[in-house]
Amino acid sequence: MQQPIGLFDSGIGGTSIWKEVVKQLPNEQTIYLADSKNAPYGEKSKEEILKFSIKNTELLLEKGCKLIIVACNTATTNAIDYLRANYNVPFIGIEPAIKPAALKSKTEAIGILATKGTLSSALFEKTTKVYAKNITTIEQDGEGLVPLIEDGKLGSSEIKQLLENYLKPMLKFNIDHLVLGCTHYPYLIPQIREIVGKNVTIIDSGEAVAKQTKAILTKHKLLNTTINTKPHQFYSNTNKQVLETILNNVLATFTIEELEF
Ligand code: DGL
Repeated sequence: MQQPIGLFDSGIGGTSIWKEVVKQLPNEQTIYLADSKNAPYGEKSKEEILKFSIKNTELLLEKGCKLIIVACNTATTNAIDYLRANYNVPFIGIEPAIKPAALKSKTEAIGILATKGTLSSALFEKTTKVYAKNITTIEQDGEGLVPLIEDGKLGSSEIKQLLENYLKPMLKFNIDHLVLGCTHYPYLIPQIREIVGKNVTIIDSGEAVAKQTKAILTKHKLLNTTINTKPHQFYSNTNKQVLETILNNVLATFTIEELEF
């Protein structure tokens, strides 16, 4: 089926998921919404996160999307149940990968860096209870990181300082896995690696989300079996420049437009 796959995030973070989706599903066209005007979602109330998620979903459905990837942990953990119950397309979400980290941890201590919105959600609490009840989990709110990334400050000393404040205390608990619970954070991996060293495994879920998307498209017979010739479409409701920078090295053909939504 040639209809596009839709993705949305509070901004540019979900492009870390999009890159994996395009790699694993080269026949698919995608439409991506960067709701940067409303970032960071992680500092908003559950009601507001739900309102933004509904708005983004409805725009993607108007554009004919056959499946929607909620490329944002904060929106997934606060809104995906509602979206699944109220819209008639499959939804793929992303949640902090606590289960694989807990299963693989030898020190029985893992760190989770995520937004306040994700850490305070009922879904996060449930997942932690089920999969990490016998290990130590150090949860840290990454407050301030998303706005800096959205401002184009990747690699900056401000980000380095925040990461040091957030990650160094985790190391005292001898964590051997760090779960990145926000789709913006994979762009911080070089700086995170410098702080946590070689012995901590950093887990991000982009690949798993793309794999799950492929499985669900197959199950619902929604895969595009012909070669995609249309460009991927990106929409930003603020300045599109940060999105342009983050997609700089991407080989796929795409367009980026500023749009009111
Ligand atoms: N990219 C987001 C996530 O995965 C949202 C971060 C935010 O806007 O606070 O949680």
